[in-house]
Amino acid sequence: MDIRFEKASVLKQKPADETKLGFGQIFTDHMFIMDYTEGQGWHDARIIPYGDLTLSPAALCLHYGQEVFEGMKAYRRKDGEIQLFRPTENFKRLNSSNERLVIPELPVEMAMEGLMELLKVEKDWVPSADGASLYIRPFIIAVDPFLGVRPGSEYRFIIILSPSGAYYASGLNPVKIYVESKYVRAVRGGMGYTKTGGNYAASLKGQDEAHKEGYSQVLWLDGVEQKYVEEVGAMNIMFVIDGEIVTPELQGSILPGITRKSVLELCKSWGMKVSERRISIEEIAKAYDEGKLNEVFGTGTAAVISPVGHLKYGDKVMTINNNEIGPISQKIYDTMTGIQWGEIADPFGWVVPVE
Ligand code: PLP
Ligand code: COI
Repeated sequence: MDIRFEKASVLKQKPADETKLGFGQIFTDHMFIMDYTEGQGWHDARIIPYGDLTLSPAALCLHYGQEVFEGMKAYRRKDGEIQLFRPTENFKRLNSSNERLVIPELPVEMAMEGLMELLKVEKDWVPSADGASLYIRPFIIAVDPFLGVRPGSEYRFIIILSPSGAYYASGLNPVKIYVESKYVRAVRGGMGYTKTGGNYAASLKGQDEAHKEGYSQVLWLDGVEQKYVEEVGAMNIMFVIDGEIVTPELQGSILPGITRKSVLELCKSWGMKVSERRISIEEIAKAYDEGKLNEVFGTGTAAVISPVGHLKYGDKVMTINNNEIGPISQKIYDTMTGIQWGEIADPFGWVVPVE
């Protein structure tokens, strides 16, 4: 693939203190863009200075949400090299989202090539502070200037990069999660399994109300009966019940998380009991009352492994493992981050070096 490169005339100052990056607030010097035109396919790959986009105010994505995105990270190892974690899984998932939103397929190799070239240009932006990484946000938008409701015929694929620290201000300290029983995020047959802006728009109201009560995110229940646990705003959820890892099965309404999949593979490789099934919130409350709810944690690229310290369901507040990170969450966190940052061997073939 031919990628045109236009270098930024002035390079930005890199963050002086890499321990205070926050999440998704700082952007690098360049971005990758490629266009799609019906009949022509993907074309005009380019790496250009990071900056505002020019879009028609009638662009389809602005009105009807025909948009998909991904979230991944580039990690700097102690030896200075840079690596990615299962990046092709992200581009496969992007295509699954594309399929649901009637956006044309983007060949995984093309997306990977664009990302690798951009990372070579921006490699100095990958932070080396503990827990910091370069967050990668690929996305596709429909740009046709048209107010009728139909799939677009012109799209833009863009990758932007953001040096970031922990997603939650609390870092590895347990987060407080509110079980949402008023609003729903997704239903089976809907778009819950895709990464599209609309799912996040649907989640804002619940999240906003939870924030006002001092909770950092909500735990969504199924959209039909509001009985079964689904996932959290930006992560999948796992419970350790009586020593067994239990997580909601994938049945169309939750995101098939790449961290989720990796954690399940990891725990199986350790010989742990793992089950993917429907779990009612009542079952969780009962396990808690019986002293069998050992640990709860979320999994996600941005969130990594986030222990849950409080789970509020109606009037019931469950304090999990004394609001401390539990031994299983800690072991998973250490192993996942160890592999991601190249500090321990990767027996699974998950990491991909950026050369
Ligand atoms: N669920 C939602 C709604 C998310 O936004 C994310 C983050 O991407 C996840 C789960 C975790 O997915 P992954 O582990 O692939 O980052
Ligand atoms: C990620 O973990 O990559 C996410 O996309 C979460 C997010 C919506 C910030």
